Amino acid sequence: MRSSALWVLCCTVAICSSVSTSSDVRKQDYGRCPISSKTIGQGPNTVIGSSSLQCAMECSKTEQCQSVAVCHGDDPGHVLCELRNDITQAQCSQSDIDSHACHLAYKTTTELVCENGGTPNGTKCFCPLPFAGRLCQRYMRDCTEGYENGHQDRHKGAYLIQPMTSPAPFLVKCEFDWGGMTFPLWRQVSGTSWSAVTWEQAKVGFGDDLNVEPDSKNFFVGLEKLHQILSQGLNNNQILSSYGNPWTNSGAYYHNFTVASEPTKYQLSYDNFYDYPRQPSLNGLDVSSGPVVFAAPGNDPNSCAETRGAPGWYGSNCSGHSMFADPPTWPVPGQGSPDLKEVLFVLVRTEPFWEE
Ligand SMILES: *[C@@H]1O[C@H](CO)[C@@H](O)[C@H](O)[C@H]1NC(C)=O
Ligand SMILES: *[C@@H]1O[C@H](CO)[C@@H](O)[C@H](O)[C@H]1NC(C)=O
Ligand SMILES: *[C@@H]1O[C@H](CO)[C@@H](O)[C@H](O)[C@H]1NC(C)=O
Repeated sequence: MRSSALWVLCCTVAICSSVSTSSDVRKQDYGRCPISSKTIGQGPNTVIGSSSLQCAMECSKTEQCQSVAVCHGDDPGHVLCELRNDITQAQCSQSDIDSHACHLAYKTTTELVCENGGTPNGTKCFCPLPFAGRLCQRYMRDCTEGYENGHQDRHKGAYLIQPMTSPAPFLVKCEFDWGGMTFPLWRQVSGTSWSAVTWEQAKVGFGDDLNVEPDSKNFFVGLEKLHQILSQGLNNNQILSSYGNPWTNSGAYYHNFTVASEPTKYQLSYDNFYDYPRQPSLNGLDVSSGPVVFAAPGNDPNSCAETRGAPGWYGSNCSGHSMFADPPTWPVPGQGSPDLKEVLFVLVRTEPFWEE
């Protein structure tokens, strides 16, 4: 058997034995959360099993065992199980990057101890905004999660979210309706100028501080955070723009809207574009001429930001419509590409988070 450093550590400090199979265990009797690999392998009750289910079976054999910490080592056929007599939710760690390798499986018959003002409801806690997770131990990962957790509110307010790969929570605008909408970019154009934004500003975000002005309609959360929000599940984006007098809406919908990481210049992609007759729109993102990548002063290899006079996502011949232009434009059937009065991204996650 191949041994990783973790196995060696475990087997030198703990009693390793093989677990037996047999005992009856139902998956729904156990909750699970990610934990740090650093916290495992210290206790005496460490065994090697063939799967996390087998670890749970071992824990089910005794009343004392409340939870089992499970780590996948280098050897694909085996897992390390540490049986524990307690289940403190402090063990759960959402921020550990290496948490994919280890998780805590805990008996859900244990009385729920909700955190952050949550209240028990069946096998999980009902969490006040902006908290989420079985015990409300973390921030919601996007506004869709708040909606999934039972919140309904048509007011568009500023809330903290923390996507799975974000090192810290940050503010976006949410509306807990229509599946739960996350607004990472909002620009009410009048009086704003976004065309001089640099690569660094676009990366970290800019505009009004939502802490101070929660009703602001002039902010962009930044490319890095947008990438984090979109990387944790399948999202639809409605690029909603308004033009004309009286204001007329144009809704450009994109299935599986993604923004890649910085090394690929936050390349934008989607599976398909569509619109609805009530808010007709054409596709303002040109993917026919190759990859659509972000360009801004500081990182503008094809001089698209320079040629177009504004940063934005452009095709390889610098085609496309930028929300950062002064003023931004968007193509509408029969209307050409009118100047916009407002443009926003409306993200709705349509499937569960990928890790679960
Ligand atoms: C409690 O859980 C039930 C069943 O899952 C759900 O229908 C209900 O909305 C929850 N209540 C609250 C306040 O979340
Ligand atoms: C969504 O888009 C990404 C990036 O283009 C792609 O890798 C992935 O397969 C797509 N997923 C689905 C479910 O269409
Ligand atoms: C860029 O390429 C697309 C597709 O080939 C073409 O339709 C468009 O007119 C081009 N745009 C510019 C600005 O040359």
